[in-house]
Amino acid sequence: MNIILLGPPGAGKGTQAKMLVDEQNMTQLSTGDMLRAARSSGTEMGKKVAAVMDRGELVTDEIVIGLIEEQLTMERDTAGFIFDGFPRTLAQADALANLLEKVGQKLDGVIEMRVDDQALTRRITGRYSCGNCGAVYHDETRPAPNGVCEVCNSTAMKRRADDTEEALRTRLMAYYKETAPLIGYYYAKKQLETINGLGEIAEVKERIANAMTP
Ligand code: AP5
Repeated sequence: MNIILLGPPGAGKGTQAKMLVDEQNMTQLSTGDMLRAARSSGTEMGKKVAAVMDRGELVTDEIVIGLIEEQLTMERDTAGFIFDGFPRTLAQADALANLLEKVGQKLDGVIEMRVDDQALTRRITGRYSCGNCGAVYHDETRPAPNGVCEVCNSTAMKRRADDTEEALRTRLMAYYKETAPLIGYYYAKKQLETINGLGEIAEVKERIANAMTP
């Protein structure tokens, strides 16, 4: 089953995608994670996108479509793909439809996760993660006990450069301007399910499971 998790920054796409990977043998394709990996490994493309990402603006369609194409054409044993943070523009949505067709796959559904801006701001500005294994924490809702990662025991915590209030404003603007039109696009294709992204992580997980049930 191939699904898109669609939602603004902080909607919980990454959190929920990771649980689907762990529990259902699905594969998470997060363009944000791919771009951050390119930055940390210092590739030419990584250097090119760094400032754009830090400001909270969108990277070009060409770059992110290229990244997804590379991943989709890789052989792997998976129960399906979870597109997390992709597509983000109508051009990316069209490209995804073409790419899936090219590899003999189809999109089974799009789950829009709705969260209000106030909650998004709290989630984003309080987020940090383990610099070693990537486990995600939050100042209020999920602090790492004594600053130690529960997964790998590392104390190297870090925050994303685009998790400031200023960059978040730009990211939200990009979402409402460029990405929100995808809600109507997938609704018209009868592929959209909208869920409430507020509440406990486990509650949201259950709503996603229900939305994925045909
Ligand atoms: P990306 O990495 O995709 O960031 P994003 O979409 O802004 O999403 P986030 O990762 O911030 O949020 P999320 O929804 O995954 O929430 P999370 O689960 O972490 O993109 C970053 C940048 O890369 C973009 O700005 C752009 O520059 C570029 N980019 C990426 N893809 C692109 C594309 N396709 N086209 C162009 N440019 C692209 O949760 C957030 C916090 O909330 C965590 O602390 C978590 O613990 C907490 N939380 C989660 N669920 C709950 C809950 N139910 N209740 C309380 N807290 C919760």
